[in-house]
Formats: sequence, C-alpha cells, structure tokens
Amino acid sequence: MRKNIVAGNWKMNTTLAEGVGLAKDVNEALKGIDAKCDVVICVPFTHLASVAGVIDSKLGLGAENCADHVKGAYTGEVSAPMVASTGAKYVILGHSERRQYYGETSEILKTKVNLALAENLTPIFCIGEVLEERENGTFLDVVTKQIEEALFDLSAEEFGKLILAYEPVWAIGTGKTATAEQAEEMHAHIRGVIAGKYGQEVADNCSILYGGSCKPSNAKEIFEKPNVDGGLIGGAALDCASFMGIVTAF
Ligand code: PGA
Repeated sequence: MRKNIVAGNWKMNTTLAEGVGLAKDVNEALKGIDAKCDVVICVPFTHLASVAGVIDSKLGLGAENCADHVKGAYTGEVSAPMVASTGAKYVILGHSERRQYYGETSEILKTKVNLALAENLTPIFCIGEVLEERENGTFLDVVTKQIEEALFDLSAEEFGKLILAYEPVWAIGTGKTATAEQAEEMHAHIRGVIAGKYGQEVADNCSILYGGSCKPSNAKEIFEKPNVDGGLIGGAALDCASFMGIVTAF
C-alpha cells in the first residue's frame, strides 16, 4: 500500500558510538509524537546490529547498499542475507553515489534488487538525472530508462514491494533543492511509467520519495504535492532535530 515515508540516509557518517546515540535520540523523539508517516533510518553496515538493539519497532532500519552476490569470496562485500540477519528491513539500492563512484549499472542493480527481495528486505530504489540531463531536457527519459532497465523484469507483485526515491543528482548535498513543481512533474511521470507497465493500481500503491537537500524548511511544500510520498534525507538526517522537523512536515 502507498504510504508516506521519511527515510534517513546517513551515508559514510558517524562512528559506531555516534550512530547508536543518534538512533536512540530519533527513537526517543518518535515516541513523543504521533507521526503521520513511516520513519526509517538507513545506516552504515557496521552500525546495523547495534542500532537494531536500541530502537523500537516504530522506527524502521535499513542498510545503504548490499552486494550483488549471496555469499562467497567477495572480500569486503556485505550480502542481503547478512543485512537481513541484523534485523534491518530496508536497503537503499541504486543511490547515485553508488552509480557514480562505484560503477553500479542497471544490470548490477537488477541483481541486487532480486537478492534483497529474496530476503524480504524492502529496496528503496533511487533514480535521478544529473545536471546536464536536467539542462538538456532529457531528464524524464533518463529516469524512465533507469526504471525500465533495472526494475521491469520484476513481476507486478515484486514491483509492489519496492519504494522508489527520485533524487536529482544536482540537488544531492548541494543545498539546491528541486522546486516542489519539478519534483511533482517527475513523480507524476514516474507513476505514469509504472502504470504503463504494471497498471494504475500498482502505480497508485507505489510510494515515491523525493531526495536532494530536503530540510525542515522545504519539506512541507514538497510533501504536499500529490505524487510525493515523503523523502530520502541525507545531510539533514544526521541531526535529530532537523530529521524530526522533516518527519513532522506531514
Ligand atoms: P541530501 O542527500 O539530503 O544530503 O541532499 C540525499 C541523498 O543522497 O539521499
């Protein structure tokens, strides 16, 4: 079912002690409010098990990536079964930083999505154009292709388990947010692409998050758009008060 979701993406930040502290703070803050959305924190692999031990079921936990293999001789990699064994329920896949710096292609991401689903992890699958594609007007086609290539081999039932996150690369960590209108245009487009392949019901049930310099001051305006179902939050998720300021934008 389509839900409102605010998910934090801590990226490569916080030591274990800092991360556990932040998770405890978010957990406590959530207890005090009647949140109108699901709240998830996606944390570094090293923190997963410890964070799982200090949060309540009201706060979801996810990893920021998983391997494209189940197990074996892949030094330094962390598999979907390993992520699931910590108690995590979500995994971010296809983040632009993974695509850009670690060469993750649609082919690799397709495998990762399948492995995550096999472990009952909910993928938070990221898509989005770079600045040049925004400026040359190809951004809608670029995002369509990212979805088609990595996700359209899934059955409708499998697709229904995904969360999507539209993150224009030019807005990530830059302080430059897409306008609410730009976000809505893309989110409506994405829903149309999904409807074209899987039908309107699957499209209507899909949660599509916006990511890219989302903060308490702009979250409300973006979340009010009919096709925006929440946010994937980087920098502002590293501070409990600002993260909660986004959660309460709903
Ligand atoms: P940002 O990152 O909020 O720091 O722009 C968002 C993301 O990359 O998920």
